[in-house]
Amino acid sequence: MKNNPYLINLSSIGSSSLGYITVAEGMENIPFEIKRVYWTYFTPNDVERGNHAHKKLEQVIVAVSGVIKFSLEDIKGNMIEFVLDSPSKGLYIPSMYWRTIKFSHNAVLLCLASQHYDENDYIRSLNLFRKK
Ligand code: TYD
Repeated sequence: MKNNPYLINLSSIGSSSLGYITVAEGMENIPFEIKRVYWTYFTPNDVERGNHAHKKLEQVIVAVSGVIKFSLEDIKGNMIEFVLDSPSKGLYIPSMYWRTIKFSHNAVLLCLASQHYDENDYIRSLNLFRKK
């Protein structure tokens, strides 16, 4: 497990004349075994999603379409922002980061997750998160 969020440059195979393929592989360019994949879409651009942290879950997020802005906060209150504007960029998010997410109207967010879904892994109160 890594402790800081960072961008992963996912290789693009192909060319502008043919189009591209990008590959995600657990323990290769993704720093964990992938247990779950989900995607979100049709999020209106005035809606903010996220507003939670995960106790154990690690994720890599890709904007396969559109532009997605992530604002991340650690338990010390340090904030960092990332803009996902290319299907060849991945954002690694370790456990224990509070996230808020904004979407362009056409955005599709792909999430590669290290664990199966578990509501007990969520921290949904910012006050509780900041007290950790
Ligand atoms: P949540 O992770 O809070 O989404 P976001 O951060 O994009 O706002 O999930 C939204 C709802 O969907 C919440 O009620 C939990 C449910 N959910 C599942 O049932 N299974 C899943 O794998 C995920 C990711 C969410």
